[in-house]
Amino acid sequence: MKPIFIDLKIIADARGSLVAIESLKNVPFDMQRVYFIFGLSPSLRRGQHAHKKNKQVALCIQGQCTFLLDDGHQKTEVILKSPTQGLLVNEMIWHEMFDFSADCILMMIASDMYDELDYIRGYNNFLRMTKDVHSPIG
Ligand code: TYD
Repeated sequence: MKPIFIDLKIIADARGSLVAIESLKNVPFDMQRVYFIFGLSPSLRRGQHAHKKNKQVALCIQGQCTFLLDDGHQKTEVILKSPTQGLLVNEMIWHEMFDFSADCILMMIASDMYDELDYIRGYNNFLRMTKDVHSPIG
């Protein structure tokens, strides 16, 4: 699968740089939640789930990490290391984050409020659900 990047504009002047993120403008959904993770261990993975409905944009606003995206058929890995390069993580995409730099701050912009029922945990469950969705015989 091909990653979809969202390039954000930098507004810079002598005082420094600013990046603005707006619903349905540079984020392709109406955003309802922002959260960020930091103090991450380089040897531990996060994510390891998919969402049934929630769409997200991931941004490494400091440092870097690797993102694995998997639609149940194809996988791709990308390194996020720019505060202006967002990665779209659509619904029904298994994602894992790892290889965090010590200074990594990973910001996630989400279309939906937090809802544990929206999570698909367990890779085999995910594969079963994507198989159901894409199977020609239903
Ligand atoms: P989780 O989504 O599993 O983290 P990650 O995808 O980074 O590995 O969430 C970790 C914990 O935080 C879990 O107990 C749920 C809680 N949580 C919230 O309360 N609100 C949120 O918006 C998120 C994303 C997680």
